Amino acid sequence: MTLLAIESSCDDTGAAVFRDGELLSNVVAGQAVHAQYGGVVPELASRAHQQHLLPVVTAALRQAGVDKKELDAVAVTQGPGLLGSLLVGHLFAKSLALALRVPLLTVNHMRAHVLAHFIRAPRPAFPFLCLTVSGGHTQLVVVRSALDMEIIGQTIDDAAGEAFDKTAKLLGLSYPGGPRLDKLAQTGNPRRFVFPEGALDGSFNFSFSGLKTSVLYFLRKETAANPDFIAENLADLCASIQYTIVSTLLRQLKKAAQATGLRQVALAGGVAANSGLREGLQALAETEGYAVFIPDFEFCTDNAAMVGQAAIFQYEAGDFASQLSSPDPRLKL
Ligand code: KG4
Ligand code: ZN
Repeated sequence: MTLLAIESSCDDTGAAVFRDGELLSNVVAGQAVHAQYGGVVPELASRAHQQHLLPVVTAALRQAGVDKKELDAVAVTQGPGLLGSLLVGHLFAKSLALALRVPLLTVNHMRAHVLAHFIRAPRPAFPFLCLTVSGGHTQLVVVRSALDMEIIGQTIDDAAGEAFDKTAKLLGLSYPGGPRLDKLAQTGNPRRFVFPEGALDGSFNFSFSGLKTSVLYFLRKETAANPDFIAENLADLCASIQYTIVSTLLRQLKKAAQATGLRQVALAGGVAANSGLREGLQALAETEGYAVFIPDFEFCTDNAAMVGQAAIFQYEAGDFASQLSSPDPRLKL
């Protein structure tokens, strides 16, 4: 079974090709246009998808050594995401499936992040607990099977990636600031400054908007007294902010693992690249006895390989979409 998968939910245009369950190619084109605005501009994102999609699909087929006539199915992200971005991939996939007379599969982007763990070994066994942390989502998910997942905790405001990006912006780091903040944090003291954690009591939910406000007021106060405060303390600020976000994530993850009895713990989404989160989870795993799963970085950030992997599970279950299908920006897990 040869499958082409397409991802266009936010600001990355992706295409991947699988044959008989094996990933043959995974191509992603990012969109530099948003950096100057300090965040993703939806209208610009959909226009960039229009420009990137055909070259990305062509490159994925070429790298896989597959002609489009050999495709047995086409898969695409249905949501959640930006409507204009989703429409570009969705319409392309529908048209291609129609022209080739092959089935269409529509995939939930958040399920695809979770199922990225099955692209390559080591793969977790069902059931497992997954912490999905990206620029748009923060979810604790009990994964009973490829088709049966339940959110047991999530953010009530900002996502973890958003918390990284927004605090990084307050420090003057360019968008997306998460990776830059991570890099600077490595030489800083994580206990130098104390910010409020966002783990909500009595639930597995998160709240990160208080952190952003607290950092904003703190920096305002300190820079009024010393205009060079940020520059003089940048590494310590980054390390302390990262420590706060990671502690929040791990506190809820640990609670959820205790409550569910699950001992296989997985990370998904772009924030899984964060060095503090990776190290913190490995340390927690040693004391708690977890088996930890973190996909390769190319499968953590938005990509089409995870969409293809999710589609393979749906193909096996006979879960196909019709030509009447449309994107759903608020699609639930
Ligand atoms: O999953 P992703 O590629 O896109 C979606 O949001 O769906 O995640 C992107 C997010 C951004 O907020 C980015 O700043 C964050 O992941 N991120 C990081 C790191 N690498 C990416 N945040 C902290 N540390 C990192 N190393
Ligand atoms: Zn994503």
